[in-house]
Amino acid sequence: MIPIADSLLAWYADNGRHELPWRQTQDSYALWLAEIMLQQTQVESVKPYYTRFLQALPSWEALARAPQDQVLALWSGLGYYARARNAQRAAQKVCADFAGQFPDTREAAETLPGVGRSTAAAVLASAYDQQEAILDANARRVLIRSQAIRSDPKSTRTLQQLWELAEALTPTAAHTYNQAIQDLGAMICTPRHPRCDACPLQRSCMAYAEGLSEQLPLSLRK
Ligand code: ADE
Repeated sequence: MIPIADSLLAWYADNGRHELPWRQTQDSYALWLAEIMLQQTQVESVKPYYTRFLQALPSWEALARAPQDQVLALWSGLGYYARARNAQRAAQKVCADFAGQFPDTREAAETLPGVGRSTAAAVLASAYDQQEAILDANARRVLIRSQAIRSDPKSTRTLQQLWELAEALTPTAAHTYNQAIQDLGAMICTPRHPRCDACPLQRSCMAYAEGLSEQLPLSLRK
């Protein structure tokens, strides 16, 4: 395993997108909402929806009690509307079963509709400063390239390997590290034509060393 946290955190301090609206808060509701919106939508598209949604429905209680039409109207244009319906059901469950607080264990958080392992981990790290590793598309691509993983990234076995790697690489400052890996994946280690010349991990990246940066992850090329 090639460690990456120190180089990544140093790069993030100087180059990260620190101004993103969900990086200005510690509120679990706001952090959770951002992660749900970012699941299938790019950062630039999410920004205006996120701000409007938070203004209209600023808390778990407000979302739990809102008419579904209002929730769907606020989501209108973002796509994947099951996310909006799940989000409201999740808010209702937080109010009913978790005393209006985002649960503080991954196991409990994953019982919320729309919250999988990576989303749960992202919120626990950013809201509660827990050492939880994420593994969304950006993090997967960075790990696959940095370790030159050649197996099918969608297979159960590779996913298991990637989760183990993600956990081993994530430092105690998981919140910052998780944001950093997002930014590296979005800005440098992009799906097509990664900017390896500007990458803080270039010297340790196994895909780069083997000339495979553009070939990995494998499924991109099928
Ligand atoms: N994609 C998923 N979570 C993200 C975050 N917190 N910042 C930027 N992009 C993301």
